[in-house]
Amino acid sequence: MIDVTFTDAALPQSGALGLLVGEGSGASGLWHAADEATGGAVTRAFAASEFTGKEGTTCTILAPGAGFSRIVAAGLGKEADLTPRRVEEAAGALAAGLAREAVAAIAADGVGAHAAHAALGAVLRSYRFDIYRTRQKPEDKPKLALLTVLTGDRGTAEAAWPALQAIARGVFVTRDLVSEPANILNPPEFATRIEKLAGLGLKIEVFGQAELETLGFGSLLGVSQGSAQPPRMVVMQWQGAGKSFAEDRPVAFIGKGVTFDTGGISIKPAGGMEDMKWDMAGAGTVVGLMAALAGRRAKVNAVGLVGLVENMPSATAQRPGDVVRSYSGQTIEVLNTDAEGRLVLADVLWYAQQTFDPRFMVDLATLTGAIIVALGHEHAGLFSNDDDLATKLAAAGTATGEKLWRMPMGRDYDKQLKSDIADMKNITGRPGSSITAAHFIARFVNEKPWAHLDIAGTAWATKDSAVAPKGATAFGLRLLDRLVAEHFEAK
Ligand code: BES
Ligand code: MN
Ligand code: ZN
Repeated sequence: MIDVTFTDAALPQSGALGLLVGEGSGASGLWHAADEATGGAVTRAFAASEFTGKEGTTCTILAPGAGFSRIVAAGLGKEADLTPRRVEEAAGALAAGLAREAVAAIAADGVGAHAAHAALGAVLRSYRFDIYRTRQKPEDKPKLALLTVLTGDRGTAEAAWPALQAIARGVFVTRDLVSEPANILNPPEFATRIEKLAGLGLKIEVFGQAELETLGFGSLLGVSQGSAQPPRMVVMQWQGAGKSFAEDRPVAFIGKGVTFDTGGISIKPAGGMEDMKWDMAGAGTVVGLMAALAGRRAKVNAVGLVGLVENMPSATAQRPGDVVRSYSGQTIEVLNTDAEGRLVLADVLWYAQQTFDPRFMVDLATLTGAIIVALGHEHAGLFSNDDDLATKLAAAGTATGEKLWRMPMGRDYDKQLKSDIADMKNITGRPGSSITAAHFIARFVNEKPWAHLDIAGTAWATKDSAVAPKGATAFGLRLLDRLVAEHFEAK
């Protein structure tokens, strides 16, 4: 991770400089100074490239003089619309433009109290997963390692940074997990990596095959039975409220952790199947979120639970038509072994509400291809039995740029889960199948306030965005951290 320091707003004498430029708001002190130092090169370049500070635009000036190697500007948009999110996105664009430089400064004197968010945007955009590249040419390697953020309000920035840096570290935990190939990150290895986070103050419990059998996790175990890798459930507790879980009920986050989803006997087509290494993104995001909450010592009691399995076809695999008994006691007819995420969540959700009596539960899951058909890659699907929780989640999503769109639920969708032989079946017809999937899960929340985020379209990106290089996004982590900070933390 890039090293960040904050200094007072004085123009560096050389090196690489990033400018955050508001649209139509006049030059900030530092960009004016940079323009003067370079004999007007900045103004000339802006005019020549018609750069006006519009949101989402950048302008790069190479060797502008005065000893600068390059000056990169990124637009903040109109000052009246300035939000921390806008600052992060513009700074993320600067980080991309400055990636070839080992050391760089960002002039954040125009963003008031949001300078720490400039650092966050730059750090998030600079994420790399290159542990498996042994022959990368030096010219292909990003170099940016040291970032100075120049601010007129250093005190505020320095006070805000540790919590934001903890969030960035959590995002990197998630992206590292989600990026790993499935031959490395199988359920036992996933659990081992989670155990390494105990140093943050998380209490971590790992359940193996035998324990899950004793508990009666028939739904989760049915998915796992075709794999040579044994399943795991991992429970992470963060006690930050200064009271026990009994005195101050926790919030609960639950993640789908299918380390690879072949579809099982209902096997998927070959094309694109490699994407199913990130079918554990819900679990990866819950783990990163718990690391972020612990890392910033959030004043909340929280529990994170992940169900970790591999869905494989084999001689021991579950067959279409099998009936399993879930931990809740409800029986399930498994008509399609590729609708496995809901089978994993069913047992983990039931365990979460039984064990912790949480204030609410939010699950994250790459659950359905149908949510991509409905919402594309811009919004994740939000399903909830609680309007208040849904409203809070949607607002947190807007604020953090991790946008949610609430989907309908209702009895007539639920009815489609009726089975001829068991309490329910695990698939319905294709129409509305993200919704009926949510209804399946809802049968395991036992009336607790609950929301389900279907992140199949947002967990992985095939192109760079302002604050994330292509690949694992950690979508959901920042929005859930924000939900906690806004509404569930002691102030
Ligand atoms: N993991 C998939 C959903 C998915 C698809 C995630 C694309 C990310 C990208 C899930 O387990 C699955 O296979 N869902 C099926 C459900 C169907 C069998 C009812 C689907 O969406 O086709
Ligand atoms: Mn599947
Ligand atoms: Zn899946």
